[in-house]
Amino acid sequence: MSSDDGDLEASRSDRVEIEPPEGFVSQANVSDEGIYDEFEENWPECWEAAADLLDWEEDYDQVLDDSNEPFYEWFTGGTLNASYNCLDRHVENGRGEEVAIQWVGEPTDEGNRGITYEELLAEVEAFAATLRDLGVEKGDVVTMHMPMIPELPVAMLACARIGAPHSVVFAGFSAEALATRMNSADSEYLVTCDGYYRRGDPLDHLEKANSGLASVEHEVSDVVVVDRLGEDGFGHDLADDQHDYASLVADHEGEAVDPASQDAEDMLFLMYTSGTTGEPKGIKHTTGGYLSWASWTSRAVLDIKPEDTYFCTADIGWITGHSYIVYGPLALGSTTVMYEGTPDFPERDRLWEIVAEYECNQFYTAPTAIRSFMKWGSKYPASHDLSSLRLLGTVGEPINPRPWKWYHEHIGGEECPIVDTWWQTETGGIMVTTLPGVKKTKPGSAGPGLPGVDVRVVDADGEEVEADEAGYLTVHNPWPGMLRTVYKNDERYIEEFWAEYSDPDADEWVYFPEDGAGIDAEGYLTVLGRVDDTMNVSGHRIGTAEVENAIVEVEGVAEAAVVGAEHETKGEAVHAYVTTEEGQEGTDDLRDAIVESVENGIGAFARPGGIVFTPDLPKTRSGKIMRRLLEDVANGDELGDTSTLRNPEIVEEIQSKASAG
Ligand code: WT7
Repeated sequence: MSSDDGDLEASRSDRVEIEPPEGFVSQANVSDEGIYDEFEENWPECWEAAADLLDWEEDYDQVLDDSNEPFYEWFTGGTLNASYNCLDRHVENGRGEEVAIQWVGEPTDEGNRGITYEELLAEVEAFAATLRDLGVEKGDVVTMHMPMIPELPVAMLACARIGAPHSVVFAGFSAEALATRMNSADSEYLVTCDGYYRRGDPLDHLEKANSGLASVEHEVSDVVVVDRLGEDGFGHDLADDQHDYASLVADHEGEAVDPASQDAEDMLFLMYTSGTTGEPKGIKHTTGGYLSWASWTSRAVLDIKPEDTYFCTADIGWITGHSYIVYGPLALGSTTVMYEGTPDFPERDRLWEIVAEYECNQFYTAPTAIRSFMKWGSKYPASHDLSSLRLLGTVGEPINPRPWKWYHEHIGGEECPIVDTWWQTETGGIMVTTLPGVKKTKPGSAGPGLPGVDVRVVDADGEEVEADEAGYLTVHNPWPGMLRTVYKNDERYIEEFWAEYSDPDADEWVYFPEDGAGIDAEGYLTVLGRVDDTMNVSGHRIGTAEVENAIVEVEGVAEAAVVGAEHETKGEAVHAYVTTEEGQEGTDDLRDAIVESVENGIGAFARPGGIVFTPDLPKTRSGKIMRRLLEDVANGDELGDTSTLRNPEIVEEIQSKASAG
């Protein structure tokens, strides 16, 4: 991990420490340092504190059932309903007229909507009744392929209400990616929409969804289509099994649907993510553990209070949006802002305009966005009143000290603590960060594990490394928000997450998130990035194997190797090294075909930023592609060790082609 050690070095040499601002501490949800010892001494019972944030129908018998490790179960025997916890209980508490979702559409001339808890509950019930009417039963997976429109959280909560797990597929995913996920989940229902707005133009979404449906291997019983674009739509006719969302909801208006009594361990949703193989894995999250985790971390880390207006810029199609736009903030009864568009439309101050207009108290975004804000310049935030902000957060990739400080100064006015939150789709919610009312922050370092979360940095043998040495991040006890398995693939669950560092004979189970990290003498972690074959492009996890599969689909391509290369704003960019079949030249047409195939196989967000044609790929004697060397080439770094290669000469050739092209 040579280049990674460099990152550790950078964070050390620039070690500023910032104490939590007093004004923040005095009002923080958590401000007692004692919570760390308390949780350690009282583990796992400490997690009753998370469960206590929810209303349970039937109380649980046991906090943690670890009788079948690593298939942990949390809050067993308890029953509850996620939609009840996010909606009904707030209405019952007299807060029905508070805004639950403040929706902001991309077009600026359109009426934005503040949807109250009462209104949201009514629409969720109407759509839950609709789903039941269509035949959706408890346990049926309902897929959503939808952008940032209010009907997405409505559909998620309607599923939760009737005990049907949802599987949300990010709208930017291609038709093929949608089909793969529906096939994997045996999902017979799809909720989608006609289109949405991107940078001022309507974008056809239904065409893509339809083409995905054509590749689903089983029978799809029903498709519900939201009419987002109205007059700007593309004039699609709905097929026989396709229904207009608004008419269905109108038919069921006013119908009461009692929240289904769900077991704590019942699946709340599936979320597909990339791993080492080309096959995306369905991460299974449960009702009791996940919702407790999303709620507890929203409260303790993001400091959300019921009266807050909170703005997270993620897309609900990824886990950040699930946990920290929908479930966490709504379970706590706050107002969650949901923005349809991009940060630079119509101008580069759009997000700051939203913060000022709705007087947002928290702002949670990704380092890739912060790097763009920094590049655009401080005049954009400076032209708006951001004084309502109390806390800033970042998630998705490592943040360097420079953008951290820019964020602190220009967005937070040096008055807001920043939480750099490390977590993953698999962890369900935040795992590593500074509790903002307790811990000082160190730009470039995420912080210690949360109370009750035992994170360490180990070497390849599982021994803890010395302070400030690079190693592998590991988690040494389970937590309520953890994934329960890879859907329909318990073996892969063990193989991917537990096999590396656990010692089943000694009954020692260690979770391996597949990230590299360093840890300082105070237990603060600096996360270095993925150590499996996945890339982190603008905070999106993309498997190299998935991109390679899409590239070798192209006629004339023989072999492909894909790596993530450092990129100024995206964090990483996709670089592809491609060999062609005999008689096929590396032409521009072939290049276009490769890009198109990646867009069709995964989505435009995975599009290669660089394609290099080469006569051969660097391979070990056993024929394994040495991606590490290609990474060096892509980053313009000095080459690592080539002595184990069967064809060492090829690396320099690729290097010269890469610099020429
Ligand atoms: C991977 C998880 C967590 C929601 C968004 C991404 C990287 C995440 C940080 C951070 C450094 C981070 C890790 C992790 N990552 N947060 N604060 N500092 N790296 O979810 O797609 O499941 O990706 O994102 O590499 O493993 P995801």
